[in-house]
Amino acid sequence: MHLITLDNETDFEGWRKAARTLALHDIRPVDVRWVVGGHEPDLFASEDTVLPLDAPQATFNVPAKFVELAQVAILHRDPQRFAILYRLLWRLRANHDLLEIATDPDVAEVTAMAKAVRRDEHKMHAFVRFREVGRERDSHYVAWFEPEHHIVELAAPFFAHRFADMPWSILTPEICAHWDGHAVSFTPGVGKALAPTEDRLEDTWRSYYASIFNPARLKVKAMEKEMPKKYWRNLPEASMIRPLIAEAARTTGAMIAKAPTEPHKPQKRLESSMTHKSAAADDIATLREEAAHCRACPLWKDATQTVFGEGPKHAQVLLVGEQPGDKEDLAGKPFVGPAGQMLDRALQEAGIDRSKVYVTNAVKHFKFVPRGKIRLHQKPTTPEIKACRPWYERELAAIKPDLVVALGATAAQCVFGKITPINKNRGHLVDLDEGKALVTVHPSYLLRLPDADAKAREYQRFVEDLKIAADFLRKSRRAA
Ligand code: URA
Repeated sequence: MHLITLDNETDFEGWRKAARTLALHDIRPVDVRWVVGGHEPDLFASEDTVLPLDAPQATFNVPAKFVELAQVAILHRDPQRFAILYRLLWRLRANHDLLEIATDPDVAEVTAMAKAVRRDEHKMHAFVRFREVGRERDSHYVAWFEPEHHIVELAAPFFAHRFADMPWSILTPEICAHWDGHAVSFTPGVGKALAPTEDRLEDTWRSYYASIFNPARLKVKAMEKEMPKKYWRNLPEASMIRPLIAEAARTTGAMIAKAPTEPHKPQKRLESSMTHKSAAADDIATLREEAAHCRACPLWKDATQTVFGEGPKHAQVLLVGEQPGDKEDLAGKPFVGPAGQMLDRALQEAGIDRSKVYVTNAVKHFKFVPRGKIRLHQKPTTPEIKACRPWYERELAAIKPDLVVALGATAAQCVFGKITPINKNRGHLVDLDEGKALVTVHPSYLLRLPDADAKAREYQRFVEDLKIAADFLRKSRRAA
């Protein structure tokens, strides 16, 4: 029996080199034993031999699909995976099309292993929760996770990309991954006792989870499949799952008992993620305080401060912009710069009193690139809009406006939870689960128009859109 020792559990290159050498020496799979360094048997007590096999000059080809499959399947926890992969490689030499036979036991087994690894990777992406250690600019974010398979190195680049501007460590029992803003590095695994358990962001996670939890759509089995119980202990929001399930049973019972409502119009799909009414409403002052420490995306680093929404507690209308600009970033208030002045003028012409409007932004930190002394506005990306959306959802749940006005594409994406073209959706009210929405352009768009005629025309259209809002507000006030 030939004993092959690999450097570690994920040593694909070591496996590949050894497998090629073994196959070229015609050593049958049943005559090979695979182990990982540190787990070698006592050679004197076993019948294994470690024959030095010279690397033959000859080569052979296997389908590229096999290499891709093997690279993933080798990360499976099954100790037999190296042997099964070698057996498959051995058989592929005789039948180059073997991978096409999905019912072949080796093909099926390796495919299932690769699938399980990918599923585990997906779960890790979804269920890692960082906790802040240290404060402000010295913060480091640490998460504890227990993967089923050897996936930490596979999954780490996702986190480096997603949380590029925040230094983080993911601790696991086998291997730990670290990101310092430049490169990912790995160190040996640690015990759970080293992982932090609480931080200031826990409440944000819980509220976010409560806000996206839709009792009418609850399928406990499907939910547990998506979020298996074994991950619950590391999730801040896990403490809410049982109460929310219990509450859901009660709420849906009440919903069934109520008179049937009108069938959904197709347009309603637009606001599928607007489940704000199920969120526990917070006080705006509390939200503002929490958001001041938000690190959900990297924009906080260069911004002066979080610019949270402001306006009356029970405003009839909630107006959403894109993100604070230079002036707003310094003042800590939304729409106080040139775009804000144009907005004030248009609101007044449309008959809407700004002091009665709750004004906020889809993204609550100023995103810019420095150009000399100027800070040039940069459009927020979809991940940044998504990272900030829980704040909007919580503002919505707190204010409960009759109407949401989305100014521009970023605001519309935030309000509807998906990219929503302005021109196709402006000029009329759109139904939301609760209340209505109106989509129109952003005042900065008007400021940027170079042609004076076009500017005047577009400004007029903007005012006309706002008049639709004003008209609706008048009617709903009367009806109240
Ligand atoms: N543009 C916005 O979208 N929001 C502001 O607060 C200022 C400019």
